[in-house]
Amino acid sequence: MPNCYIETLGCQMNKADSERMLGLLSEINYTETKTLQDADLMILNTCTIREGAADKAYSYLGRLRQLKESRPGAMIALAGCLAQEKGQEIQKRMPYIDVVFGTNNLHRLPDLILEAQKTGQKQCELFENLPEEIPETPIIRQTTVTAWVNVILGCNFNCTYCIVPQVRGREKSRSPEFIKSEIEQLVAEGFKEVTLLGQNVTAYGLDIDKSLASLLRYIHDIPGLERIRFLTGHPYHVDDELIDTVAELPKACEYFHIPMQAGDDETLRRMARVYKVDDYMRMVDKIRAKMPRAGITSDFIVGFPGETEEQFLNTCKNVEKIGFDACITAMYSPRRNTPGGKWEADPKLKVPDEIKQERIRYLNATLDNVLEKRSKLYLNSVEEILIENASSRNQKMWMGRTRAGKICNFPKRAAEAPGDFVKVLITETSPWSLKGEMVD
Ligand code: SAH
Ligand code: SF4
Ligand code: F3S
Repeated sequence: MPNCYIETLGCQMNKADSERMLGLLSEINYTETKTLQDADLMILNTCTIREGAADKAYSYLGRLRQLKESRPGAMIALAGCLAQEKGQEIQKRMPYIDVVFGTNNLHRLPDLILEAQKTGQKQCELFENLPEEIPETPIIRQTTVTAWVNVILGCNFNCTYCIVPQVRGREKSRSPEFIKSEIEQLVAEGFKEVTLLGQNVTAYGLDIDKSLASLLRYIHDIPGLERIRFLTGHPYHVDDELIDTVAELPKACEYFHIPMQAGDDETLRRMARVYKVDDYMRMVDKIRAKMPRAGITSDFIVGFPGETEEQFLNTCKNVEKIGFDACITAMYSPRRNTPGGKWEADPKLKVPDEIKQERIRYLNATLDNVLEKRSKLYLNSVEEILIENASSRNQKMWMGRTRAGKICNFPKRAAEAPGDFVKVLITETSPWSLKGEMVD
């Protein structure tokens, strides 16, 4: 049987897509290999959120080219968001790529591979939008305890820095029935936790007269399902109904990844984020009023075109005021066909690279303090942890998460295993994780 290796760059969406690719390929008898050197088919699933992500893909392609030269007959396929953005262009420049496909036609992968093999011709197929009905595909999971479940694809916002709407298309919700049966299947296989996935997950259902809150209720009582999370949210769609539903449903984890992007009204306006700092604060207050221990996490961009020193400092001040539990920060990177990309080309608006670097260092230092403070709140408390796997740094320790999403490491004893819920007394905290020991 031929085998295949998939390298996945980018976000959870891509990770979930790679699991689908493996499922689809199994239908034409491909098995997965974990050694790139042995692979008959090498797939690179790419990201293009920032220039750095695209650069990573290009340098990886260079490696694949060398491998292909030493392994006659091996094939290379380019997938994901960078392929969707400019796969045709890339294939022209790098003719050793056999197959290019995008984010809207994953289901076509087996046919494209077979066609390339049969004809010896390069294949490039990119759909501008998803098919009318989202194709249901087989999935081969890469995890055992927690699983990703796509619930909505695409994004209808137009944040001025972002390329995602171009490469992931318009929002399309999966039907609740399909989602439920996927989760029932997962539970039958022993999974305990699902993360409902979408670029804009809080818009779930708006196109089919449903809502994320109604989906949470609909799947909640699946026997054997223990925890439900969702990501990524947009503040605009986090309403009282959703907050109340998470607070009320025992299996819905108190975890909200709702990127704020900037803590300054003028910057938010120019980013077209459609909320103000006050709106975000009110949302956080409502969440914490109902769920004081909720984990609230965010992404931030520094150095967006036109961002002044004062506006940047507003962001830092508000980060401290809100007190996040985790944050991903990035320097603004211009993307093509976006308003931000045009503004970046204007020397009056572009924030110089050195200043971007200074700002990200300063924001990260601010965040370290903020996260440390939030982590400290866990000290001496007993947390319910779902064991996911052995800690990657130390095989004698387990890694799991609190309900609020904090990573927690603690020494193994004997009887417990991944998938178990254990009680852990937190004895040490750091900005990004907790340490502790099991208690009975
Ligand atoms: N749909 C999600 C996440 C989008 S992409 C949301 O709305 O928040 C993930 C993160 O990448 C974003 O939250 C943003 O912080 C960052 N990002 C997106 N475009 C970027 C760009 N051009 N430069 C730097 N960071 C960017
Ligand atoms: Fe990009 Fe904005 Fe859509 Fe998120 S909400 S994917 S940042 S356009
Ligand atoms: Fe990157 Fe595409 Fe995700 S651009 S961040 S892999 S949606």
